[in-house]
Amino acid sequence: MEIKKGKELKSKYISRNSKFDYLPEHDRYLTARAKPKYKFNVIGTGNIGQEHMKVTMLEERGTIHGIYDTNTSSIEQAKQMFSTNFPGNSLVEYDSLEAACNDPEVDGLIICTPNYTHIDMVREAVKSGKHILLEKPMATTLEDAFEITRIAQNYTGIFQIGLQYRYKAIYVEAIHEALERKNVGDIKTISILEHRVPFLDKVNQWNKFAKYSGGTLVEKCCHYFDLFNLFAQSKPVHVHATGSMAVNFTEFEYNNEKSDIIDNAFVTVSYENGIQASFNLCMFSPMFLEEMILCGDEGRMKVSEQEDFLPNNLPRYQFELMRSDGKPSKVSTPSYPETIQQSGHGGATFYEHAYFIDNIEGKQTSTASVEEGFWSVAIGAAAEKSIRTGEVVYIEDLLKEHNVNLSKVVSHS
Ligand SMILES: NC(=O)c1ccc[n+]([C@@H]2O[C@H](COP(=O)([O-])OP(=O)(O)OC[C@H]3O[C@@H](n4cnc5c(N)ncnc54)[C@H](O)[C@@H]3O)[C@@H](O)[C@H]2O)c1
Repeated sequence: MEIKKGKELKSKYISRNSKFDYLPEHDRYLTARAKPKYKFNVIGTGNIGQEHMKVTMLEERGTIHGIYDTNTSSIEQAKQMFSTNFPGNSLVEYDSLEAACNDPEVDGLIICTPNYTHIDMVREAVKSGKHILLEKPMATTLEDAFEITRIAQNYTGIFQIGLQYRYKAIYVEAIHEALERKNVGDIKTISILEHRVPFLDKVNQWNKFAKYSGGTLVEKCCHYFDLFNLFAQSKPVHVHATGSMAVNFTEFEYNNEKSDIIDNAFVTVSYENGIQASFNLCMFSPMFLEEMILCGDEGRMKVSEQEDFLPNNLPRYQFELMRSDGKPSKVSTPSYPETIQQSGHGGATFYEHAYFIDNIEGKQTSTASVEEGFWSVAIGAAAEKSIRTGEVVYIEDLLKEHNVNLSKVVSHS
């Protein structure tokens, strides 16, 4: 018997609670799960590829149909993870990129290979016309990022970039308070800090070499430059950065090549609308701390995420809004339901998937467009250049130097 669904089924959190797994499917009313409508293939099944597999299944409207990876160990690991977590679901294993991109069963492709491969993955993937979720950074060079921007301009499927930090609960709150409610007034300065442990191991250690990753400020920090751009609501004019390889991987060699990535930096960015932004990175810290401070003409906001491995139960996420006299200030600990928050990147990857599917269904979302992906790479590339040359890098000059003419690209967002 088909059970009629009512309004009360809106909370997906109840349907995801494993406490109810003992119920036969026909008795799941309040806890009814969505039937998957979309099938996705994951290309690159390493660290984040497997996170995408898990959140796709958790989100419920989509399922993972198949996987492709050039590394047999990643494939085996992904298959094992999938059969353990989602028993009863089969997984197709493709023997070529072309086959993975062109399976008629599949609606979308989730590209999670190392940064330097993205351009080739995209060139092949777009031939399929399928929806694409491409991991950040979209490319390692401005030329490749521009080529992808131009390809995406005329693409009829969804083309989304995996800049999902904007969906961490702290930034969703910050967007709401600062951009929608304007509770710090006009934003004047943006400061972001990331202190963390060194880059983790990767398959073939691609993240230890700038030629494969784009350099630290492109690879990891494109997330923070995307947040700069989002909160500044303006275009960067010039970038100045200092940084060095002070502690990490100074002795590291792989295939007789020495690692060449920086582990600390100070980056400042000036925007067309006068907003000044600064970013501080330290990757030899014994803990994770990510913090953003916005100062406006009517208040100051600080949001942070901290993971320190100590037994104290400090809140992982914190939000603080201090406003001038007569206007309420507040502190809080923004969070998502536990299953979602623990599913990866504090729940941000889960919402990235939810909005990917919303995009496919024609709903309005605020996912990162290809142009936004481009601008996050542009600041990272400018900062890397500034460290190399010791000079202020004007974005206009940098774009010219790399033959990037953005006026040829009409907004795709
Ligand atoms: N959005 C985020 O927060 C986030 C987090 C982590 C990684 N990433 C991005 O995701 C991508 C992958 O990172 P990762 O941490 O999963 O790396 P990883 O090394 O753990 O996994 C990459 C996988 O891609 C496979 N691969 C390499 N070349 C391939 C090819 N030509 N064809 C098919 N598979 C290939 C490797 O064998 C490996 O299994 C990178 O672009 C990275 O920057 C994004």
